[in-house]
Amino acid sequence: MSRFEPTLFVIVGGAGDLTRRKLLPAIADIAEKNGCQDKFHVLAVGRSAQDDEEYRAWARESLALAGLSPEAISAWCDTSVHYVSNAEEAGGWQAVADKVAAIESANDLPGNRAFYLAIPPRVFPPVIEALAEVGLNRSPGFTRLVIEKPFGNSLETARSLNELVHARFEEHQVYRIDHYLGKETVQNLLVFRFANALFENSWNRSLVRSVEITVGEHLGLETRAGYYDQAGAFRDMIQNHVTQVLTLVAMEPPVKLDADAIRDEKVKVLRSVVPIAADDVVFGQYVGGLIDDETVPGYLEEPGVAENSVTETAVSLRLFIDNWRWQGVPFYLRTGKRFPERLTQIVVRFREPPVCLFEVDGTCEVHSDAIVITLQPNEGFELLFDVKAPEEDMRLQTVPLDFRYDAAFGSLPDAYETLIEDIVLGDQTLFVRSDEVEAAWSLYQPILDNPPMPEHYAAGTWGPPGSTKLPYDTGDRWWQG
Ligand code: BG6
Repeated sequence: MSRFEPTLFVIVGGAGDLTRRKLLPAIADIAEKNGCQDKFHVLAVGRSAQDDEEYRAWARESLALAGLSPEAISAWCDTSVHYVSNAEEAGGWQAVADKVAAIESANDLPGNRAFYLAIPPRVFPPVIEALAEVGLNRSPGFTRLVIEKPFGNSLETARSLNELVHARFEEHQVYRIDHYLGKETVQNLLVFRFANALFENSWNRSLVRSVEITVGEHLGLETRAGYYDQAGAFRDMIQNHVTQVLTLVAMEPPVKLDADAIRDEKVKVLRSVVPIAADDVVFGQYVGGLIDDETVPGYLEEPGVAENSVTETAVSLRLFIDNWRWQGVPFYLRTGKRFPERLTQIVVRFREPPVCLFEVDGTCEVHSDAIVITLQPNEGFELLFDVKAPEEDMRLQTVPLDFRYDAAFGSLPDAYETLIEDIVLGDQTLFVRSDEVEAAWSLYQPILDNPPMPEHYAAGTWGPPGSTKLPYDTGDRWWQG
């Protein structure tokens, strides 16, 4: 018996890039691994006119590109992948509702539906309205609405989108995606902290000196100028992915392991952040430089970027959380495109012992201990501490205790598989609740209203010069760069 209920996935934006790269492969893979190919159906909704067969050919190609074996997917595509156009001339949304009913009746499905909005954010509102108007916000089984990021581009727009969603759906039906929450290593933060009293007992202002979260990307803009030049790194990465990681690092233990208990604690973190000082935020924009020994263009030379654009491609900031656990401990957040490597890492630095017993030539030999949690790539963690270097007079050396996921468990599942499984299972833990998304926007809106001018940094470096100086006044430096 599979743990999954028979489900119809209605993917709005069914012929788009996200569907091709992530959604179809994830659904097909879950269906295959769990022996529920007859239970998972996909209805792709798109503007173009095509029939099921034409769409199935595209779907097969997408699945093969994603590395799924043709034998495993071919039969599934033939019977369980469908297409409908929602263009006006094809009957609009009523045609979608009719096709949903036809697929469910022909395949004896109980009416469990997940509507996945894999579309540009400006069309979220009309699509949500249209689904409700043709009655697709109710069904005999479950109805779930899955919304991709970005959820709004400001506090005001996020609030009005929440209002619209709540006028048509209940919050328990809504799954706001932040794909970072689907990453195995991000989820592991809860286990690392709350299953290991050793770490959790040190995880506070008495022992922690600072916390750093870096989400560095090697890639540049690629072909996304249309979206990115409007959004910038702050909206694209800090408000969502980096902040989600921050809340998991800083939250209190939840009273139980359920979606609302965890999300309550995450919201409390966001509400405890002290307003961020203007001097504690640095924006950067990459100029041409060397990546892997190749010269790459600067942001302003990328196709589609507005002339003289001041969009930031990197952000660093320092914030403080005013609660009993974290008062006075600096949290450094940093993200950027065209960094020297792709690296998502949390560094928790511990305080040095209050008295230095190990001095050589008048200099204290003790280094502060640290935990370095690498979320991607080379997922794992290191605990760094001092040992005596052999055969030397009390010379200390910092050494790692090292754990790597791939060595222990092999490869990790794709974040989208985890998230799609949870949507079918009805587990909202890894999805962002409405108050959480608004609390994140509230925290950052003052910066977005008054953004600093970006400083230039060369592609292949760790961000603007102002960013590298940010932690120095507390005596720290970025772990990398
Ligand atoms: C997306 C951003 O949400 O996350 C992209 O829009 C970014 O700009 C991507 O490249 C990073 O995700 P990952 O999983 O590759 O770290």
